Amino acid sequence: MVSIMIKKLINSLKEYDSKADTEHRSKKLFGLAALYNTPNEIITAAADVAGKGYEKFDVYTPYPMHGMDDAMGMKSSKVGYVSFALGLTGMCLALLMIWWMSSVNYPNIIGGKPFFALPASIPITFEGTVLLTGIATVLGVLILFNQLPKINSPLNDTDFMKRVTSDKFGLVINADDEKFIDADVRKLFLSGGAFEVQEIYYRETNLGIKTPIFDGKFISIIFATAILTAIITYVTLNIVLYDVVPFDWMWNQAKINSQSKSDFFPNKAGMREPVNGTVARGFLPYEYKGMPDSSVKLLSNPLAVSRKVLERGQERFNIYCSPCHGYFGEGDGRMRDQFPKPPSLHNQKVLNWPDGNIFHVITNGQNVMPSYAEQVPVDDRWAIIHYIRALQRSKNASDEDLTKSK
Ligand code: HEC
Repeated sequence: MVSIMIKKLINSLKEYDSKADTEHRSKKLFGLAALYNTPNEIITAAADVAGKGYEKFDVYTPYPMHGMDDAMGMKSSKVGYVSFALGLTGMCLALLMIWWMSSVNYPNIIGGKPFFALPASIPITFEGTVLLTGIATVLGVLILFNQLPKINSPLNDTDFMKRVTSDKFGLVINADDEKFIDADVRKLFLSGGAFEVQEIYYRETNLGIKTPIFDGKFISIIFATAILTAIITYVTLNIVLYDVVPFDWMWNQAKINSQSKSDFFPNKAGMREPVNGTVARGFLPYEYKGMPDSSVKLLSNPLAVSRKVLERGQERFNIYCSPCHGYFGEGDGRMRDQFPKPPSLHNQKVLNWPDGNIFHVITNGQNVMPSYAEQVPVDDRWAIIHYIRALQRSKNASDEDLTKSK
């Protein structure tokens, strides 16, 4: 069934290929076309034509040919300028958009950073630049090379075109070239080894229709292609790549997701509660949770002071406490003006507190200071407390400390 369809298609293509071009053409000459047998002939012919000063000519070969640009004396393409201009526009638009969104339309203070800064904007700026450059390059090629508003060259469907897309090499000099004189051109072609010269006339439609790009058939094909592409993309990306085994990202598994229903248990809840009176392994609840700090009497620092412990405490303090309390516990951290200023850790109250009270503040939080139990494990909390003690002592050194340090 399918093979018959394919055969039919191939046959009709063959038929079309061998059919003579019967379309009615106007009397207006588009150009003279020459056919050559070998690549060498066409390269020499192109160089000849360019050397004689013709400008409006083009070469048609069945495959790309090295050295043809030079032979034709082609200057480098102007597409680069179009791409550059639109790329620059894309860059400016992206920067403008980011600047406007983050410092005019919706300014947010995030960690005290400036509203607009170049480093953070680089990725989007890059994307904007690449996007417009890409679009510009495609449009530039379509307009500059394919002469976009025109969609049908007089060469299409001619015998000439059928042969140069198969096994011959062709050259066309346009009739509107300043140097075009019929007899001269024919002589030039034949002396260069052309085995056939054809006259190509404009179609009536080439001359009649002003904006062929609005041709109904053309527009409907573009639309149909766009819709088809959209449907195929949608189906592949949303259905095939997600729901069809084995592309389902292992989403469909025989397991119960959190918050979901299960018919296995009487109460139909998929999630289980901890058994009463048990504690999860490796996790001891904080027994003074939510209590006032006066109740924290029995907590004492289980870590012995050592260089290692103090260094660990310093590192953790600098990471977790210094943003508000400052590197020396004076309450002058980097978050000043953005968060209520904490009291100095050198005040009489904290100096006199037993270690347990500081532990309680870190674990439980105190007024606006949030709990750091999630971020700082128990041993690190005690190490931080040793370090705070060291900070306090450094501010209240006695004469004895002086002699000791010697
Ligand atoms: C987000 C800012 C912030 C961070 C980070 C922070 N604190 Fe605090 N801290 C405060 C504020 C504000 C207070 C004052 C709370 C109050 O009003 O009682 C405070 C109070 C304290 C107190 C009690 C001081 C007193 O005089 O009552 C101690 C002790 C303390 N913090 C230790 C720490 C330690 C140790 C860390 C690091 C694990 C830490 N804080 C991290 C903001 C912070």
